[in-house]
Amino acid sequence: MTALLEVQNLRVSFPEPGGGRIVPVDGVTFTLERGRTLALVGESGCGKSLTSLAILRLVPPPGRIDDGSTVRFGETDLLALQGEALRRVRGRRIAMIFQDPMTSLNPVFTVESQITEVVHAHFEVPKREARDRAAALLQEVGIPDPLARLKSYPHQLSGGMRQRVMIAIALAGQPEILIADEPTTALDVTVQAQILEVLDGLRESHGMAVLLITHDLGIVAGRADRVAVMYAGQIVESAPTGALFANPSHPYTQGLFGSIPRLTGATGRLSPIPGNVPPPSAWPSGCRFRTRCPIVHPRSAEAPPLLPVGPDHLIRCWLAEDGAR
Ligand SMILES: Nc1ncnc2c1ncn2[C@@H]1O[C@H](COP(=O)(O)OP(=O)(O)OP(=O)(O)O)[C@@H](O)[C@H]1O
Ligand SMILES: [Mg+2]
Repeated sequence: MTALLEVQNLRVSFPEPGGGRIVPVDGVTFTLERGRTLALVGESGCGKSLTSLAILRLVPPPGRIDDGSTVRFGETDLLALQGEALRRVRGRRIAMIFQDPMTSLNPVFTVESQITEVVHAHFEVPKREARDRAAALLQEVGIPDPLARLKSYPHQLSGGMRQRVMIAIALAGQPEILIADEPTTALDVTVQAQILEVLDGLRESHGMAVLLITHDLGIVAGRADRVAVMYAGQIVESAPTGALFANPSHPYTQGLFGSIPRLTGATGRLSPIPGNVPPPSAWPSGCRFRTRCPIVHPRSAEAPPLLPVGPDHLIRCWLAEDGAR
């Protein structure tokens, strides 16, 4: 069976001022099946947003997607699409909710005009019907009194409402895939939970596939079918969600679990991973996590490939070969 979305060996690079290139996304591979949710998880700067932007060919210049990368949407080679064909996929068949709802919504247009713009861009419908669809979408994402809300401007809405409007805009093209880049980071915990519930409900009712991008493993449980953990431009652990939570096997993933208070329970034992993701120009040779890893491994100067630790469960770590876990 063909995957709905297949990303293979994706590389995104930028020229450096002094010559040479940095490669913030360096050989990322994953597939997304129809109606499923894949979570892409990692700390700030590990390449999550660039990965999702690359899927829609929105890597900001002078960045580029390097030769040898593959992004297939069913039978369609997304990296070969141009012009109108690309526009028909973007926003319509694959939609994206961007990280910051305030910069993605246009402050000078009403909610109605921003939703109906997408409806008109993709469907031949009269004005009246576009407005009805916009109201129905607001209803669907849980906005009370949708007809009144259509007349609002973004600044008249709370953060949670804006995020719901963003989702409504994304849904206006009736997409097969929804890419949600940190859809809830700016929101308080209760509103976060509500937004994620809206996304869950929509995935079920529309049979949409979701690529959920987050730095927070805590929101992944019970929501994603699979998890891919990213570190320094690469996937370092990939597994069905249950297996990853039962047996997090890469020291980085274990570190991420250690930094989630509500998963570890006892707040006193909270131990975030020391340091930050280094910038792409300073990634260590060999294992990229070795500068922060609590484990000193004799082979850490060699770059580990993805190695199996269980059924359908891979880690980019030499520990897999030792059978240490
Ligand atoms: N326009 C750009 N020009 C040059 N380098 C960039 C650009 N955008 C991103 N990068 C580099 O790529 C790295 C990964 O960026 P990306 O936005 O994908 O990270 P992220 O995982 O989404 O982080 P966050 O959780 O903060 O959103 C950044 O640390 C930066 O070094
Ligand atoms: Mg990001």
